[in-house]
Amino acid sequence: MEYKIGLIKGDGIGPEIVEEAVKVLDAAAGKYGFAFNYTDICMGGCSIDRFGVPLTDEAIKAAKESDAVLMGSIGGNAATSPWYKLEPSKRPEAGLLGIRKALNLFANLRPSVLYEELRSACPLSTATAKKGFDLIIVRELTGGLYFGERYTKDIDGTETAVDTLSYNETEIRRAAVRAFDIAMKRNKKLTLVDKANVLDSSRLWRKVTSQVAKDYPEVSYDTMLVDNCAMQLVKDPAQFDVLLTENMFGDILSDEAAMITGSIGMLPSASLNDSRFGLYEPSGGSAPDIAGKNIANPIATILSAAMMLRYSLDQDKAAEGIEQAVRQVLKDGHRTGDIMSDGCHRVNTDEMGDLIAGAL
Ligand code: IPM
Ligand code: MG
Repeated sequence: MEYKIGLIKGDGIGPEIVEEAVKVLDAAAGKYGFAFNYTDICMGGCSIDRFGVPLTDEAIKAAKESDAVLMGSIGGNAATSPWYKLEPSKRPEAGLLGIRKALNLFANLRPSVLYEELRSACPLSTATAKKGFDLIIVRELTGGLYFGERYTKDIDGTETAVDTLSYNETEIRRAAVRAFDIAMKRNKKLTLVDKANVLDSSRLWRKVTSQVAKDYPEVSYDTMLVDNCAMQLVKDPAQFDVLLTENMFGDILSDEAAMITGSIGMLPSASLNDSRFGLYEPSGGSAPDIAGKNIANPIATILSAAMMLRYSLDQDKAAEGIEQAVRQVLKDGHRTGDIMSDGCHRVNTDEMGDLIAGAL
């Protein structure tokens, strides 16, 4: 079996962390008996430099022809990079939003796990860290404020900016079904996060999600207001299993959920459409300040590759093998700088990749 994988190495630390994930994928392919055929896809700042736009039709076509796409990160330093002198629709981030929409990647899965070995990095109270947590945010990714009508114009002599938040029941239902399916494979608990005390769109999310919930009687289903959820995530994250939410709330809560694990360098993510296709990327950004220094943490990208094996390629054993190898390397005390603690052994980006590939 040979899989076609698109690689969006991207900007900043993207190329170096993707290289380590490829190393680990190749080791997994050798061990579990399949092969990869990689195609580079240019997107983000590097696409602006080469083609003048952050996303080309060729890039979309190459992604569509792949079984799955593994991405590093896109974007640069907004204060210093010339990319941010361009109008918003021509900047690196527009490439990311464009590919999400073009490939219909409506379900964004962002797991947040506190590893036993990294408890000391958790910024929460000692008691909360000791309890640990393992939750996943299912963020709707192709609707809401991100893709609503927007404009800035002069209204009666006052400059006015408008962003619209709209969802229809079809968009909500498909995200909810995906989240309940995931809950069935986990601890069978799902919380819809919304602002139903204020927003019409949230009230529609509640209506549609509670209808979907009837098809999953084994899943315990509840709802929570987003402001309360922001508090509960720092107070008692262990109460959560699957959090389902709309695009903007999911953007904000997923950064919070990442931070409470101690390092954003550990967290993978998957963006899925209706078929098996997905785009997999680390939750962290392009970190231009440390790019090219071989010190970035490649684990989030390596774990994203594991998610790719599980969700798009049906290679669950290989996915578990990689996750196990990551845990083993952490247990053995190896750490990149971002997760370094006393008594551990500090390693570079490529050494971490070698260790994980070796532990397979
Ligand atoms: C994310 C990022 C993007 C988003 C940005 C880069 C457009 O923050 O993937 O969470 O807001 O979705
Ligand atoms: Mg974000």
